[in-house]
Amino acid sequence: MNSYLCRATIIALLLSPLAAATQTTIPILSAHNAVVLHTDAAGRLLTGYMGERLADAKDYPQTGASYRNSDDILSSAYTPAGSTSLAEPAIAITHADGNRSLDLRYVSHSTSVENNNVSLTTITLKDPVYAVEVTLFYKVYADEDVVEQWSRIVNHEKGNIVLDKYASANLCLRAGSYWLRQYHGDWAKEMQPEETRLTHGIKTIDTKLGTRADLFGPSVFMVSLDKPACEDEGTVLYGSVEWSGNFRIDLEVDPNDQLRIIAGINNYASPYVLSPNETFTTPAFVYTFSSTGKGDASRRMHRWARDYKIVDGRGNRLTLLNNWESTYFGFNEDTLRGLIKGAKNLGVDLFLLDDGWFGNKYPRNDDHAGLGDWQENRSKLPNGIKALVKEAQQDGVKFGIWVEPEMVNPRSELYFRHPDWVVKQPAREEKYFRNQLVLDLANPAVQDFVYNIIDSLFIKNPGLAYLKWDCNAVIYNAYSTYLKARQSQFYVDYVRGLYHVLDRIRAKYPTVPMMLCSGGGGRVDYGALNYFTEYWPSDNTDPLERIFIQWEYSYFYPAIASANHVTNWGHQPLKFRIDVAMMGKLGFDIPVGKLPAADLAYCQDALKLYNAIKPVIWQGDVFRLTDPYKYDCASILYVDSTRSSAVLFNYLVNNRYDAGNKLPVKLKGLDPARQYRVQEVNRYPGAPAGREDGKVYSGDYLMKIGLDPQVHADRSSVVLQLKTIPG
Ligand code: GLA
Repeated sequence: MNSYLCRATIIALLLSPLAAATQTTIPILSAHNAVVLHTDAAGRLLTGYMGERLADAKDYPQTGASYRNSDDILSSAYTPAGSTSLAEPAIAITHADGNRSLDLRYVSHSTSVENNNVSLTTITLKDPVYAVEVTLFYKVYADEDVVEQWSRIVNHEKGNIVLDKYASANLCLRAGSYWLRQYHGDWAKEMQPEETRLTHGIKTIDTKLGTRADLFGPSVFMVSLDKPACEDEGTVLYGSVEWSGNFRIDLEVDPNDQLRIIAGINNYASPYVLSPNETFTTPAFVYTFSSTGKGDASRRMHRWARDYKIVDGRGNRLTLLNNWESTYFGFNEDTLRGLIKGAKNLGVDLFLLDDGWFGNKYPRNDDHAGLGDWQENRSKLPNGIKALVKEAQQDGVKFGIWVEPEMVNPRSELYFRHPDWVVKQPAREEKYFRNQLVLDLANPAVQDFVYNIIDSLFIKNPGLAYLKWDCNAVIYNAYSTYLKARQSQFYVDYVRGLYHVLDRIRAKYPTVPMMLCSGGGGRVDYGALNYFTEYWPSDNTDPLERIFIQWEYSYFYPAIASANHVTNWGHQPLKFRIDVAMMGKLGFDIPVGKLPAADLAYCQDALKLYNAIKPVIWQGDVFRLTDPYKYDCASILYVDSTRSSAVLFNYLVNNRYDAGNKLPVKLKGLDPARQYRVQEVNRYPGAPAGREDGKVYSGDYLMKIGLDPQVHADRSSVVLQLKTIPG
């Protein structure tokens, strides 16, 4: 479809809602999809349809009727609790008088157009009996087919009301069967997928960890309709809650065989009090829907993320050398000077100083002490960070630093100075996670403290160019001294406090690159990526494991946001490790000074190559071609938007006899009419090129026949670059 016409049609439809005599119909449209809401005779707002756009907009008013069933209220667009719906609610309220019923009726709606791609539909609902108003928001990114949906609840009653549940969104889908792909994990085992058919009843994906909310299970998921979707086939919805704390996603196959998805903040231990005239705005639930498979859905999500969500999603990223695995806590100024020289020698953009640089009374020499005392350790760094930044600048390398500002060790000055800032139960024994506790970000004084840690680092060291923001503990014994009797607000106010700090940091330092880290991938979500340029997928940098972890993350997050470091984990050759780390934002965490000369030269050349191909990886479309869960190999292709350049990564993931790619790998996303020259790149010196090196094929050939990377035990990692040639 002509994209201008498509946008014009969408906007015209959005601005002229279709009103039938007894019902209001609100079609919320993107380039390929429609969410159709309509009112029933009583003015309740129901979902009539969710799926591919219809050719004739005049058909939208009747979509609900086609699915009509015995209990329409099951299709509520935002199910209220305690009145006529007995299904899992999206919203539950205890009113000022103690009554717990809620009924929501349509009042009005409107659509504003932000630009020729983004529009916002707001729908106001009110309880006819109680003075509670709910507004539903649908922000549509038309070209990307992405919707962000959230709600706002206003208390117009004379006394306090309590929000017992307050979801962001309540979707309704209809199909013969529903297939959920969800993830679980733990430290070094992030993003382990499981795919199952949803049965009747409710499946809940949630977390109660407070911080690093997705350590055991992230808030991303996908649901396929009728059969599990493949890369290029099938109907699939990707969803995620944009929230860095406790989330909850209920997936209910109801008595009418409809799938109801209710997603938002977890209401576990979190009834939220609203005073008169107070408003509660939920975070967004973001989703995209594709009828052409998982690959398409992921590419839509990536485009949206780069253009609208991740900080500097179309900008640059810095390659780096991190010192964590070379030194852990055991370094001094001389060691770091050596590593900075190493960074220069390697040819990376930045040196990243990790944990261990702070704390004096309680020096941070291991992970038992020092968190909270953010002054340079005088014996390790007598001349401070400043001297290191200067040293790096002289070497033409930028300097970045690790912080974990939300945390405190009981062995720290901060802990003794501000016991009231620490999250812990006053009368219970403390329980630690990695020997540390969490600071109470619900408290504005703590927010100021955390903000000032970062701000002073930048003020004292104007050359500071990068932050790694870590978060290594969950919240046990949740209790905020500051919140006094309002303890049930803690989990929500913690995350809001965190976002408040990050808002202030971003207001002053809008584009400084910041990595979202959490002892591995325990903290990546689109709420946090609103403030960060990249995330740390896992402490597990064994490249074989990373192929699988990065594969799953790649459905939801674009490669530009994936910080991948070459380390000494695993048993793969250096080339393999570098190739895997290139599929994202490349970094190193190895003792450069100990590299044999040939390896160092190889790394230097790899960085040069990476600088040439990174635009395709960061901004291109990703195609997952050979699935490592099913075959001996993994193949992942990145193609730039003009289809003139592509990079294909291939890896052996099975070490059994004769394992390898038995068939050619068919490429995707190329221009069938153009000719592509293939070059095998990033070869270790002396390793012969494979049979495809130098060959020229048409895009048509490459997509129908494919090419043979010759992946086997002696060529366990093969990178092929493709460029169009004239003619
Ligand atoms: C976490 C991070 C690591 C490193 C250590 C430092 O575990 O994931 O990369 O920064 O903390 O203590």
